[in-house]
Amino acid sequence: MINVAVLVSGGGTNLQALIDAQQAGNIEHGRIELVLSSNENAYALTRAKNANIKTEVLKRKDFESTADYGKALVSILRNNNIDVVVLAGFMTILDETVISEFENRIINVHPSLVPSFCGKGFYGLKVHEAALQRGVKVSGATVHFVNCECDGGPIIAQKAVEVLDGDTPETLQKRIMEQAEWKLLPVALAKVCSDLDA
Ligand code: GAR
Repeated sequence: MINVAVLVSGGGTNLQALIDAQQAGNIEHGRIELVLSSNENAYALTRAKNANIKTEVLKRKDFESTADYGKALVSILRNNNIDVVVLAGFMTILDETVISEFENRIINVHPSLVPSFCGKGFYGLKVHEAALQRGVKVSGATVHFVNCECDGGPIIAQKAVEVLDGDTPETLQKRIMEQAEWKLLPVALAKVCSDLDA
């Protein structure tokens, strides 16, 4: 069995999709052992508690540098015997220490078709604002491995979603979550766990 940590910062709807998939028996080779939030007020923490999953809060502003934050994060992950890390709306940039300690074992969900509308500064609603501003007719979501290049790691899965006339960043975000993110992420995690557990 692969021990999974899910890193969150906000509402945690992607975390919820993972919890639901686990409860439905769809993540055969993995178990969510820990939910770690960079924000103590994240609703994602309530979702984790409701599912009886252990939680931790690690705030970036409590550390002097990204490297110190990374060291503390690695030590929590190691202490909980974590094998795979999922970034599910985690808004704090990870440093090289974390990425190299968990090489090919960190996956991220991004709300666009990478390489469009990704990289530094593209997160949350900003991604959808940029897509609407450019006038694309199709956007979507991407699940990828995390490497040192922001949103630049190998792609695991992608799904396209139509942009509709009259979309706002909020309506587009909701459609991409419902039609792509919440479906792709559990399937991608199940695959990564089963590959590692082989
Ligand atoms: C999701 O749309 C996720 O793809 C995005 O933040 C949202 C978090 O929602 N992540 C990024 O933009 C990362 N660059 P959630 O907390 O409800 O899962």
